[in-house]
Amino acid sequence: MQVQTGFVRTDPDSLIGCLTYQSRAVSRSTESELEQLVSQARRRNRSLGVTGMLLYDNGRFLQTLEGPPRGLKQVWSSICRDQRHCDIEVLTEHMVGSRLFSDWDLLLYSREDASCRTSRASDLAPHALAHYVPGMAQLALDGDDVRINARLASVTEQGWSADDIISHLIEPVARAMGDAWLADQCSEFELTVGLSMLQLAGHAVRSHAGCAGATLRRSRYSILLATAPGEPHMLSTAMLADQFTDAGWRVDMAFPGSKEALANQIAQQGHDAVDIALSDALPRPRALLELREMVDYCRKATPDNLVVVSVGGRMFAEATATAATVGADHARRSVGGTCVRLAQLIRQGRSL
Ligand SMILES: Cc1cc2nc3c(=O)[nH]c(=O)nc-3n(C[C@H](O)[C@H](O)[C@H](O)COP(=O)(O)O)c2cc1C
Repeated sequence: MQVQTGFVRTDPDSLIGCLTYQSRAVSRSTESELEQLVSQARRRNRSLGVTGMLLYDNGRFLQTLEGPPRGLKQVWSSICRDQRHCDIEVLTEHMVGSRLFSDWDLLLYSREDASCRTSRASDLAPHALAHYVPGMAQLALDGDDVRINARLASVTEQGWSADDIISHLIEPVARAMGDAWLADQCSEFELTVGLSMLQLAGHAVRSHAGCAGATLRRSRYSILLATAPGEPHMLSTAMLADQFTDAGWRVDMAFPGSKEALANQIAQQGHDAVDIALSDALPRPRALLELREMVDYCRKATPDNLVVVSVGGRMFAEATATAATVGADHARRSVGGTCVRLAQLIRQGRSL
């Protein structure tokens, strides 16, 4: 374990230190334990002028903290002593001119978290945004969240919509990162951390693009957004949660351990649609057979077979697999527009 505190080199009030680390929870945290940790942390951060975010995913923490060096050092010393986590590893540390999380004493983003928004893609976006992809993929693999956020902020300022940025920048970046893994240029863990950073950045893009809270209307529809059993990558699932929630759907999320667990949840909660996601970064051809079985289980879980089943992942984005490959009603080529298409399919199913 290596813990550095080298960012506290100087102490002028104007300078903001920014530190990102990852660590492993000693035991699985419940939602209420996390909430308690975060509400205490928020109080202390506020008193010391520290802001930041904490991501909790599958027993792992990823946290970015920013603030005046003295306050940051105090918080960091406490965090390093904290027995609730271990294997603390600093990913980045910088002095920066302004904060990324200025509105947040500590923004908590846990795997259960879901929120949301939507807009339109333009024809120009794929070409205009493509040249950012290799650089962004490298930044995500380097764990450089500061520069990822800065780059996305500048793209947002150019006026691209959140959906354009997601479809033509964030999703291609995820695939480029998958290519790096396939070429043995990074570990799967680095890939997963990079995808988490991308996910947070994508969430921030929606908020900055003014999508957050953009609608108060309620849709009649509900959806269960699930990752395929054992799939650790959840980028599109999180981005779909944003989109559907914004469109007023009732959204539940599931990270099931088995197809039976997913089918049970569908049977109990009676959703209108379910989306099951494989990795957006890696092609997983061997997972297709199991996905086909899962789709079948989902259908059987609803007595009238009315649930609309959507699937996603890199193989569907690149059309090396289709909805028919796994017996689904819909395969996403991109996150963009999924809620519109699924609403159509639900309506069609009901009018038959
Ligand atoms: C993953 C993780 C993140 C934490 N983040 C913060 C934080 O941002 N601010 C904070 O004051 N405490 C945070 N804490 C709690 C501190 O480690 C510590 O328990 C608390 O600040 C009390 O400090 P003390 O034991 O030095 O009195 C975090 C703990 C964990 C396990």
